[in-house]
Amino acid sequence: MVREKRWLGIAGTIIFGIRRLTRLTQLKIGINRENAPGENRVAATPDLASKLVSAGHEVLVEGGAGVKAGFPDDTYTDVGASIVGSAKEVATSSDLLLHVGKPSVEELGAMRVGTTVAGTLDARRDIEVIEALAKAGVTAFAMDLVPRIARAQSMDVLSSQASIAGYKCALMAADSLSRFFPMMMTAAGTIPPARVLVLGAGVAGLQAIATAKRLGADVYAFDVRAAAGEQVESLGARFIAPRDADDAEATGGYARAQTEDENERQREFLAEHIVRADAVITTAAIPGRQAPLLINTETVGRMRSGSIVIDLAAETGGNVEATVAGEDVVVNGVTVKGPVNVPSSMPYHASVTYARNLESLLDLIIGDDLGLVLDFEDEVVDAMCVTYNGEIRGNTIGR
Ligand code: NAI
Repeated sequence: MVREKRWLGIAGTIIFGIRRLTRLTQLKIGINRENAPGENRVAATPDLASKLVSAGHEVLVEGGAGVKAGFPDDTYTDVGASIVGSAKEVATSSDLLLHVGKPSVEELGAMRVGTTVAGTLDARRDIEVIEALAKAGVTAFAMDLVPRIARAQSMDVLSSQASIAGYKCALMAADSLSRFFPMMMTAAGTIPPARVLVLGAGVAGLQAIATAKRLGADVYAFDVRAAAGEQVESLGARFIAPRDADDAEATGGYARAQTEDENERQREFLAEHIVRADAVITTAAIPGRQAPLLINTETVGRMRSGSIVIDLAAETGGNVEATVAGEDVVVNGVTVKGPVNVPSSMPYHASVTYARNLESLLDLIIGDDLGLVLDFEDEVVDAMCVTYNGEIRGNTIGR
């Protein structure tokens, strides 16, 4: 009996050893520090690195890549990843490079033909980066082109990062306002709740509404898509819309651009609600286009002094005429804030959720043999893969 057990043990060790020898590392996966100024996120967390290492891949991390998001180098080495000295070295050595944003010019120059990169490439607007990726012979996946379909929800970085931005801008409004958000019954008298108006009730807007409600504000919201009304009301906020408004929902659940006449009527309708609000949060967007102008400077000037406007669309031109991206502008005592890259201000959870989105994409494009398998018949792969074999794919730009 003892002898049998010993033989079984030896056989087990041999099989384990053979398995280890035949299990080749399939992909070298690189995680570089983000190069955009003020970017604190990292594309892959130690949790994702750990899963990739366990699957048999080699993970290379540029030293310090995760520090600003709360993941020091040892959290990567602890799970079997290697720390590499420079972004260039990671880019040269990787088969697959993971990014939050776009690869730098230096990384592009260092990547081998056939390297795959995934990141938020701003593919609908930044033709230059797409052309450079194609020219470098890099296969690129634009996380920002994720189709808004149920199957792709787990890889939807637009939603995960917009959720963070919406939450954060409600906090910014509460923090900047010289009033309470909730109703307060105090010995010094009753204080009414702040009136918050959210324009654009997509992913970010709904999260801003939910957060402002949780903070006790009296919340109103508007969107050009009729379907948003029910979602706004399910959060306990009030949906406002002009009586004769058409539903502006277009394909894929996005809003269509309004005509100039519709825009003008909308601004007139909104002005009366804006001047009564203590805080206005704007999140309106049309994919691939400049943000619609919802509030002109004259309306801001009519708001109560001390009120706050947070324009989450600042990076794409702004919903507010007075907005300057990255700055605070004061109009007649009203502060208009144009925050940029808001998800980066909450880098831990922004990175955790981004990495989970990436993990879902990798599940789709890494085959059972641990190599990359790109099935262009798959609508998710087809939509997100923007360059392949030196070519720009599909109608990526201006879609
Ligand atoms: P977005 O960031 O493109 O736009 C934000 C909001 O602005 C949208 O609700 C849009 O209707 C609104 N808007 C546009 N022009 C406006 C104007 N002139 N005035 C007021 N509001 C205006 O949208 P987001 O947040 O990316 O969501 C787009 C759609 O995708 C939504 O219908 C959402 O429910 C859907 N979605 C579907 C998912 C899925 O099935 N996987 C995941 C996430 C979102």
